[in-house]
Amino acid sequence: MVFRSLPTQVTPGKRRRHGDFPVTPEKSSDISLDIFADDEHQKRAAALADKIRRADVLYYGQAQPEISDAEYDALMRDLRALEAQYPELATKDSPTQRVGSGAVTGFEPAPHVVPMLSLDNAFGAEELMLWDERRKRLLGLPAETQIESACELKIDGLSVSLTYVNGSLVRAATRGDGETGEDITSNVRTIRAIPTVLLKQAGASLPSRIEVRGEVFLGHREFARINSDIEETGGKTFANPRNAAAGSLRQKDPNVTASRRLDAFFYGVGECEGYSFTSQLNLLATYKSWGLPTNPNVQLCATLAEVQAFCDIWETGKQKLTYDIDGVVIKTNDFRLQLELGAVSRSPRWAIAYKYPAIQVRTTVNSIEIQVGRTGALTPVANLEPVAVAGVIVSRATLHNQDEIRRKDVRVGDTVVIQRAGEVIPEVVEVVIAERKGTEEPFEMPTTCPSCGTDVVRPEGEAVTRCPNLRCPRKVEQQIEHFVSRAAMDIEGLGEKQCELLTSEGTVKDVADLYTLTLETLLRFDRMGEKLATKILSNIDASRTRPLARLLHGLGIRHIGEHTAEVLASHFGSLTRLAATSVEELAAVHEIGKTTAESVWKWFQNEESQQLLVRLQAAGVTPTAPQDSERSTVLAGKILVFTGTLVRLRRDEAEGLVKRLGGRASGSVSKNTSWLVAGESAGSKLTKANELGVQVLTEDEFIAMVEELQHSSAQPEPAAEQE
Ligand code: IVH
Repeated sequence: MVFRSLPTQVTPGKRRRHGDFPVTPEKSSDISLDIFADDEHQKRAAALADKIRRADVLYYGQAQPEISDAEYDALMRDLRALEAQYPELATKDSPTQRVGSGAVTGFEPAPHVVPMLSLDNAFGAEELMLWDERRKRLLGLPAETQIESACELKIDGLSVSLTYVNGSLVRAATRGDGETGEDITSNVRTIRAIPTVLLKQAGASLPSRIEVRGEVFLGHREFARINSDIEETGGKTFANPRNAAAGSLRQKDPNVTASRRLDAFFYGVGECEGYSFTSQLNLLATYKSWGLPTNPNVQLCATLAEVQAFCDIWETGKQKLTYDIDGVVIKTNDFRLQLELGAVSRSPRWAIAYKYPAIQVRTTVNSIEIQVGRTGALTPVANLEPVAVAGVIVSRATLHNQDEIRRKDVRVGDTVVIQRAGEVIPEVVEVVIAERKGTEEPFEMPTTCPSCGTDVVRPEGEAVTRCPNLRCPRKVEQQIEHFVSRAAMDIEGLGEKQCELLTSEGTVKDVADLYTLTLETLLRFDRMGEKLATKILSNIDASRTRPLARLLHGLGIRHIGEHTAEVLASHFGSLTRLAATSVEELAAVHEIGKTTAESVWKWFQNEESQQLLVRLQAAGVTPTAPQDSERSTVLAGKILVFTGTLVRLRRDEAEGLVKRLGGRASGSVSKNTSWLVAGESAGSKLTKANELGVQVLTEDEFIAMVEELQHSSAQPEPAAEQE
């Protein structure tokens, strides 16, 4: 078994810096070869890079460009030319290197040393007051005291964590479950709004290590541009800027991320060494001075009345913004008070998100139609008189199911109140009974499927009515759409329209049929040119080796979402193993409940499913199994804490390694800690570990231990998925 995570050429004691040229050529004094950059060239490259970085900060971070586009392009050209001549100057941090690294197959886990928490919500003035009273009570302050608050906009994007070591970006990660995210460094490096090097102000210092946190988002204009590009190529458009930002950040090809102008604002801090902030406003000002984009719409409020006024202003003010917000975040400004208030469960007590009520408007129900989903569920949808809700024209709203229609007594012709909250699909809140004229028509669920005419069923105790026909065309179409979707097999080029075309005439009757498509068949369809057809076929071909979790998710087994599919794939490693597993074994897997276990077991027992798997296999679909080390359990149940400066591994690499080996990396030492790994200059955690009698390892001992554990646990592993 190969110990994959260790750098292959590490020299103990030599710090490996991200961005180092692999073999830095030594320029010997008596040999003057012109192929190596001398001091002059290095200085010139550094000066050019510095000018470009400052221009980026002014352009992206502060919308105040100081040099023209032509001047900027000239600086870039000069730097590129210099780097072409002396490639060792093109370090990872160079502004020329924002695009470059190749596509990745997946994202490595990125543990957060300090967990990324979420926020509690306050809906309206009263809940805000309750939160304020609580923080005063907790701090032992009299009720009449006013606590200073920093009020910020709550950006509707994706939280990201960026780690800078001595000012250089070394890791970017998503939030994930708050404990572990995904490593998206290559993609984040392409975002020009995000500095890869922090600006150092004269006379000021930078932290030796800092994890800055913020939100990556897409502005309205860029969102519209991306969707119109996708539409042109027959792809599936994004429902809102947030989804588009998420899709762009988790791109396997950094060049795609680079082509989308993602933006970012930073507002928080995780682990931090060699620097301290006094308050939220101090943090924001410092971030700005380092070139990190911060949102300008921030206000220090001395009283709760000022906080409320800030929230009220932005309730209407948000419509003029060029990006989405989903509320306001109110933070106790003083960091000493923040520390005292601390956090409970997953939210800090020093901050709260102020949310605006969902916007409600009135309109009429023109008709009610039935949609058939991929599981055969029949969902009634109201076709509405189009109406603007928070800047978006709404013409449909879900009515959920028959029980909901009865409960709300929605009839065709009714005036109804609809609402849209965040990205949620609009829904009918209530009927305006006072507007009834008596001509409205009650709605009954059909007894047969509107797509295939089969008698529908509604199992006892369930709210959902279903079409039981496995070959129901609409159901098949939805299944195919799900199978090819980004979260599943990710087959680009097959959008809604293409799936409809393929299934309507029975060309594709199930997901296995996708793999039998030929150029000739595709070209028979209207509006299918040779270019698009070839692209679709090549994308279908590439999907044959997608990771097992994606295939599992794509098969549409009930209760198997993206995460559960990951859990099953990493536990069982192959379809063969999964198919041969009992309900009890399935239910014994961590995070798999009884209902899910039964659903998976039933699916694999079903004869049609078995035939489908055989056909997929015959079509060459051989999902890639998770790597051996990803399924390793050699550190199962062990909790490791890292402290001090590591030399051979980066902190996130070491923690990722622990996680992949089944252990847990934690940020604090307790009696439950299995080992404390102490790097150079370890401080209070080392003292605490010694006090508690926790075993302490050096970095070398940790690496040796892991290697040893891996070798000693090497057992014959089941062959990778090659069915
Ligand atoms: S502070 C302890 N400030 O909102 C969490 N969060 O619902 C501290 N968000 O996960 C977060 N804008 O992704 C903070 N100005 C802002 C924010 C903000 C957006 C997001 C963030 C967080 C989520 C919580």
